[in-house]
Amino acid sequence: MKISVIGLGYLGATHAVAMAKLGHSVIGIDNDPAKAEALNKGEIPFFEPGLSQALSEVISQGKVQFQSSHDENSASADIHFLCVGTPQSPDGSANTSYLYAAIEDLAPHLSQTALVVGKSTVPVGTAQELKNKLQSLVGFEPRIVWNPEFLREGTALEDSLKPDRIVIGYWHKEDSLPLLVAYEKLIKAGSPVVELDVPTAELVKVAANAFLATKVSFINAMAEVAEVVGADAVALSKAIGYDERIGNKFLRSGIGFGGGCLPKDIRGFIARAEELGVGQALSFLKEVDGINERRRQRVIELANKELGSLSGKNITVLGISFKPNSDDLRESPALEIARSLARAGAKVTVTDPKALHGLSDENLKPEPDTYTSLENAELVILATEWDEYKKLDPVQAKSKVANATIIDGRNVLDVSAWQAAGWKVIALGRTIRNG
Ligand SMILES: NC(=O)c1ccc[n+]([C@@H]2O[C@H](COP(=O)([O-])OP(=O)(O)OC[C@H]3O[C@@H](n4cnc5c(N)ncnc54)[C@H](O)[C@@H]3O)[C@@H](O)[C@H]2O)c1
Repeated sequence: MKISVIGLGYLGATHAVAMAKLGHSVIGIDNDPAKAEALNKGEIPFFEPGLSQALSEVISQGKVQFQSSHDENSASADIHFLCVGTPQSPDGSANTSYLYAAIEDLAPHLSQTALVVGKSTVPVGTAQELKNKLQSLVGFEPRIVWNPEFLREGTALEDSLKPDRIVIGYWHKEDSLPLLVAYEKLIKAGSPVVELDVPTAELVKVAANAFLATKVSFINAMAEVAEVVGADAVALSKAIGYDERIGNKFLRSGIGFGGGCLPKDIRGFIARAEELGVGQALSFLKEVDGINERRRQRVIELANKELGSLSGKNITVLGISFKPNSDDLRESPALEIARSLARAGAKVTVTDPKALHGLSDENLKPEPDTYTSLENAELVILATEWDEYKKLDPVQAKSKVANATIIDGRNVLDVSAWQAAGWKVIALGRTIRNG
């Protein structure tokens, strides 16, 4: 099939490559010409494991091309996927203006038979409004379905090629058919299809993210209690996670969630529920957000307690991306902690295997080499659980620092091995006896 993918960020660039890998002929469109140009050269503007290689492959097969606006070629696509951003507005609601701009650009090129597929995460009710707007622009009832995306940064390509479910919301059942054909290989390989109405499809995505955020904040709330009574939130998580109804995934206490999705999606969901007059139903999500923010503050408190004062102290923060295997700094708890420490007067060195290129803070000192970043540190904070930090040699690390104290913000270190190497280990949600 001929496919256009509109918006080439983390979601769209991955989706374009995935569709090309499925054998479709793909035209990727981003109104940022630099992005389209880079992608044509095989350069992904962000880090995502395996994506660069897959892009080169599909470019060499002539399966994909990128451009900054629609043309006759994109106008003849069978499917147009909307993948533009829906960032947080200052009032917390989702900013859907990029979607409206995208359909205005698309309208003059939209054929009556082409299917428009919304993939961006939107407040419930947005698809209907977009459809009305598009209809007023084109003068016929456009074919639209909503197909929310569940890929996770770090495993985005894999998730796109083996989705755990394909959710399709439609007004007219026959509109889902081209999408089922486009995804035929995924469906044959076993990905289940859930067909439902459009508002439910919109809700599935924000409900899933609200649940995941709640799960993380739940264990972090337990961590707050555990810290007061000398209990261990990691052991607690393991013990409750054996219950299949609870499950142990997304249940590790630490500095909390971040990234371009969970924080803005729960805030957008709260804002939409309030608009709809059902704000009370989601008021618990405000506390989910609050618990998440408090965990960052807790690290600052622990650092302060440990160092007496933060002013002028050398602190190294391991990891700044919001999660490992991604260079995404949006709402990163690791970066927020580094910034807060610097604001309090600490001299903060940050390191990260992939994300340093996105750093724009003048008062954070970037150091690409992990062991060099530890030199003269009076406190080390493990903030993003990249494999290479989990595998750090505590003996070699100790030889670099001025004071061997580490805060494990993700509860991933082998505490006894670090203690045996002479480190004082502090962790979130646990009271660790040192020496
Ligand atoms: N990043 C993820 O892991 C992920 C996962 C699932 C869903 N989502 C959702 O997907 C959507 C996109 O997220 P993202 O992380 O890819 O955002 P992003 O900011 O990385 O990418 C958005 C892209 O859209 C482009 N764009 C904006 N307006 C445009 C227009 N009118 N025409 C063409 N291009 C335009 C921007 O230049 C940018 O490249 C959001 O709704 C997000 O919530 C993201």
